Amino acid sequence: MPHTPPNEPVELNEDEAALLKEMPTLDGIGQSRREFMVTSAVGGIGLFAANLLAQESALAHMPLAAGAATAPIRAQNVVKVSLTINGKPQSLELDSRVVLLDALRERLGMTGTKKGCDQGQCGACTVLIDGERALACLTLAATLEGRKVTTIEGLAEDDQLHPMQAAFIKHDAFQCGYCTPGQICSAVGVLSEARRGHVSHVTADVGAGTTSLSNDEIRERMSGNICRCGAYPGIVAAVQEAHSGRQSAQTWQFATETQLAAVRKETGHETV
Ligand code: FES
Ligand code: FES
Repeated sequence: MPHTPPNEPVELNEDEAALLKEMPTLDGIGQSRREFMVTSAVGGIGLFAANLLAQESALAHMPLAAGAATAPIRAQNVVKVSLTINGKPQSLELDSRVVLLDALRERLGMTGTKKGCDQGQCGACTVLIDGERALACLTLAATLEGRKVTTIEGLAEDDQLHPMQAAFIKHDAFQCGYCTPGQICSAVGVLSEARRGHVSHVTADVGAGTTSLSNDEIRERMSGNICRCGAYPGIVAAVQEAHSGRQSAQTWQFATETQLAAVRKETGHETV
């Protein structure tokens, strides 16, 4: 269908007309079917994604007991959940469909945990629940009564970074950093699993009790955490150092003032 300005009549072909007839009404999200078709044609998948995001945000934000006057979706099956997040007790009233990821980000404003795929494929939303790795996008908040959740915001102690965080920085184990909170939480979970003797697909001796992590073990165990920037060599090195305690050389350093001045002079950029 050709793009048409929103206020002009839209010419539908036979298939589009049949589809429009079959589509359920979208009044629940504040759009008529025709508006939906027109704006979808103009905005493409971006609009669809925006609608989904708006729904998730509305679900997590909903002032449930008072009713959601402005929210496009009504809360259903409201549940009360008391849990501990990063050592702090939290009491939430939530639509039973809200997942932990949306509760953290939209309700509690804890945006350290990232939303990548929102369907359990990328690992960006990894948190620790009672010390075990879990995907927050696949965990209903309503199931967490009495549980202890640790997110990336809860790993450091005051100004002291968690050893895994420090190792990630030392080994330059990220580029854009979007996957990094999930990678770090996952890596913390991996070390705990190894201490408890959990085996993986590549473990050679499954009866050893505790597992010493080779780089292959780390790659296998971290394989559920995707890094689109391909920072894998640094990630493996960071997890290995945090696991083994063997210090390896840092491969980068901050530029000195003299080096910065030389770059400024060469490029003409004062902000380098
Ligand atoms: S956002 Fe949860 S696995 Fe991708
Ligand atoms: S650092 Fe960019 S996705 Fe991993």
